[in-house]
Amino acid sequence: MNAFHDRRIVLGISGGIAAYKAVEVCRRLVDAGAYVSPILTEDAHRFIGPVTFSALASEPVHTSLWDDASPIPHTRLGQNADVIVVAPATARIISAYATGSSYDLLTATLIATRAPVVICPAMHTEMWEHPAVQHNIEVLRSRGVIIVDPQEGRLAGGDIGAGRLADPDTIVGAVESVLSGRGHDLAGLSVVVTAGGTREPIDAVRVIANRSSGKQGYAIAEEAHKRGASVTLISTVDRPTLSGISVIEVETAAQMLHAVEQHAPQSDVVVMTAAVADFRPVHVADGKIKKHNGIPEIRLEPTPDILAALGASKSTGQVLVGFAAETDDVVDNARGKLKKKNLDLIVANDVSAPGVGFGHSTNAVTIISVDGSETFVPLADKHTIATAVLDSVLAVRTALRPQ
Ligand code: CTP
Repeated sequence: MNAFHDRRIVLGISGGIAAYKAVEVCRRLVDAGAYVSPILTEDAHRFIGPVTFSALASEPVHTSLWDDASPIPHTRLGQNADVIVVAPATARIISAYATGSSYDLLTATLIATRAPVVICPAMHTEMWEHPAVQHNIEVLRSRGVIIVDPQEGRLAGGDIGAGRLADPDTIVGAVESVLSGRGHDLAGLSVVVTAGGTREPIDAVRVIANRSSGKQGYAIAEEAHKRGASVTLISTVDRPTLSGISVIEVETAAQMLHAVEQHAPQSDVVVMTAAVADFRPVHVADGKIKKHNGIPEIRLEPTPDILAALGASKSTGQVLVGFAAETDDVVDNARGKLKKKNLDLIVANDVSAPGVGFGHSTNAVTIISVDGSETFVPLADKHTIATAVLDSVLAVRTALRPQ
């Protein structure tokens, strides 16, 4: 299901250099099937013209409370919207919205709506870090407004620091999760996801590998990011992903263990989606093993069980999620792993079933919780599976919270 289809989005653009990036946000929202009504503030005009948005948006561009045939465009826009996004949001717009001030069409529309609002701040680092701006941001957050935090990077005038508008991927992802009804329900959480199959070297050219494509892990990382989590993805595969996700590339089980040890202790959720090799060669040949030396005998040793180590050192409140790729007695085997590795959730998939598991874009899973409950998710896109896994993570977190 496309969350954008036939939905009405008001896109507010206020006066900052990042206003040009709102063009890309507008285009993506329209391409995804939404009706987009841009509102440009007077200051936004100094950076970008309404004609650009007229050419892209499906709905008329608005610039003033007074230029419309309707005398009350703000209430009409505010009432009809499924979501309002302000990108970029200046310190002035944020302050006006936090204090309930209304002085132009965008600020009036923000006050006149009951729709969810997504604010994407962009300004210089000093302004972003000013206590007054941070206070206004906290006021808005406490009212349920979704804040898509700015990123670190190059700012106007060549300065570098925090305050750069989040990239269009992240903004569109946040809007998507609002429209799908989940909003930023993972905001404030730090999530570590592992993805792909590890590769254990035999010699300089050969490895022991497995069929994992990494798609399920990437889908979990991306859905968590869209829902507002801060995501670290530890991956063995080189796939494109959302730019707000911090990716750490690894190859072997030992490297994955090292990266997990660095990041898991301070995270709220760890999802071990990776297919970690269980065995690796005891000795890795320096160069290439040559055929004329005969058939080599490769002795194997076990790799560290990363998830079991995490389970043994789990901190209070941390949610640990494992995957179980099985071909027989799927749920029973998965339950055994949940218990043995001290997990909160395990996602069991029957990798022998058609369209399920390694390499496919679809999956079918049973999510088993430490409280004994089971949720079966029939064959679906891996992003749908990811959404179900993250919903279960939230349910576990709620259950773990002290009463
Ligand atoms: N796992 C891990 N480290 C390993 C092996 C597995 O962290 N050395 C994790 C996987 O990422 C997965 C879970 O443990 O989340 C279960 O992996 P799976 O391969 O299904 O089970 P194993 O414990 O390896 O047992 P078996 O292969 O015998 O089924």
